[in-house]
Amino acid sequence: MFLKLLVMLFMSLYDVKAQRSTQDVFMMEYFQRRILEMEERLISCNQDLQSMNQRMYDMSAEMRGQVRNVNVLKSEIQGYVDSLATRVDRVERDVEYLHTKLPDTSSVEISDSLLDQQVKEAQSKRKAVIIQGKECSTRFSGIKSQKIVKKAGDVVGSWLKDPTVDSSKIYFFSGSRNNTLLQFGSLKSFTDSNSTTKHKVIQLPRPWQGTGHAVYDGFVYYHNADTRNEVLKVSLVNRTVADRMLLPAAGRIPTYGLAPHTFLDFAVDKLGLWVIHADPDFGGNLVITKLDSRSLSVEHTWDTTCKSHNAEGAFIVCGTMYVVYNSHSGGRSSIQCLFDIHDSVWTEELPVMYFPKRYSSHSSMHYHPQDKQIYAWDDGYQTIYQLDVKKKLQVT
Ligand SMILES: *[C@@H]1O[C@H](CO)[C@@H](O)[C@H](O)[C@H]1NC(C)=O
Ligand SMILES: *[C@@H]1O[C@H](CO)[C@@H](O)[C@H](O)[C@H]1NC(C)=O
Ligand SMILES: *[C@@H]1O[C@H](CO)[C@@H](O)[C@H](O)[C@H]1NC(C)=O
Repeated sequence: MFLKLLVMLFMSLYDVKAQRSTQDVFMMEYFQRRILEMEERLISCNQDLQSMNQRMYDMSAEMRGQVRNVNVLKSEIQGYVDSLATRVDRVERDVEYLHTKLPDTSSVEISDSLLDQQVKEAQSKRKAVIIQGKECSTRFSGIKSQKIVKKAGDVVGSWLKDPTVDSSKIYFFSGSRNNTLLQFGSLKSFTDSNSTTKHKVIQLPRPWQGTGHAVYDGFVYYHNADTRNEVLKVSLVNRTVADRMLLPAAGRIPTYGLAPHTFLDFAVDKLGLWVIHADPDFGGNLVITKLDSRSLSVEHTWDTTCKSHNAEGAFIVCGTMYVVYNSHSGGRSSIQCLFDIHDSVWTEELPVMYFPKRYSSHSSMHYHPQDKQIYAWDDGYQTIYQLDVKKKLQVT
């Protein structure tokens, strides 16, 4: 009996145990499933996050690209506005000039044809203003002869004869920067000079720069060294600065591509004092400015069609600028472009004119209106070119 009871107890115990173990298995399976599910959700969550990141990155890259585009656009617009401003400046300058030549019409109503006529009159006046009261009908037609006078000074420099009527003085500027110049009594004393006793050393209050200086009516006009575009007028008698001015828009690039030291090139003819410079806003073309030598104010400015690239110099004869071109290697200098402020001489009429070849290149050329000669500095040789001239068509 007891044994039977024991067996029964044992049997029931086994039963419970078996029951417990099946329950455990179920639980284990359940948890495993849950863990797997959670893992799957984690993986998909991670994938979502990754694609989100990618999209964020793409978007910011796109934004960066857009910002770049906007910057490019901005600088394009800035450039456009700048060039527009200089163009407006030019037009204003011309309008202002014409305006001073037009009679006051503010209170009168005028018909278009009358206005047209007045503009034409103003234009012919503008031309007439420059030649008024002065006999100037010379036009350059060729180079008659060449004379090498001397070899003195630096490789670059300039020399010129005083254009004042009845003056025979010679001025000598060696190099491209200095505060002294030499004055000789005549061409003869310049060519004869073999000592320092024959010339006068003139010390200027400020150094000059380049090779474009001019002497006119007892004053020397030059580019004040170390300034961009300051013109000085210094008395040759007492060496004091009589006047100074800034030449508008000048001094940013050399006047002639082959003469890197010269930013302002002065010229004198029968009409008076001129300055030539090159304007980068205008394709590097040459710009002529007529100066009033007494007040040092700008009378008028002309944008020309002549390029500064490969130019080595220019000279002005009766309001016509002739530009001399060469090559970097120093070939034969030739005149290939002209600009006439009176519109009576055209480049098309000008055959390409060669200078007789001697040395390599001209660092300066100064026309003397009475002599009809060019005083040139050819690679350290002081050279005179005698010009052939013709009578110019008179503007009416
Ligand atoms: C300036 O000119 C004088 C006289 O011609 C010369 O002796 C001197 O060396 C020059 N100075 C420079 C810096 O070229
Ligand atoms: C310098 O010039 C003087 C007079 O002009 C002359 O007598 C002398 O021989 C010359 N000297 C030289 C070295 O040429
Ligand atoms: C210097 O000379 C000029 C004429 O060449 C004259 O107009 C000016 O008043 C003079 N200046 C002085 C300070 O003497």
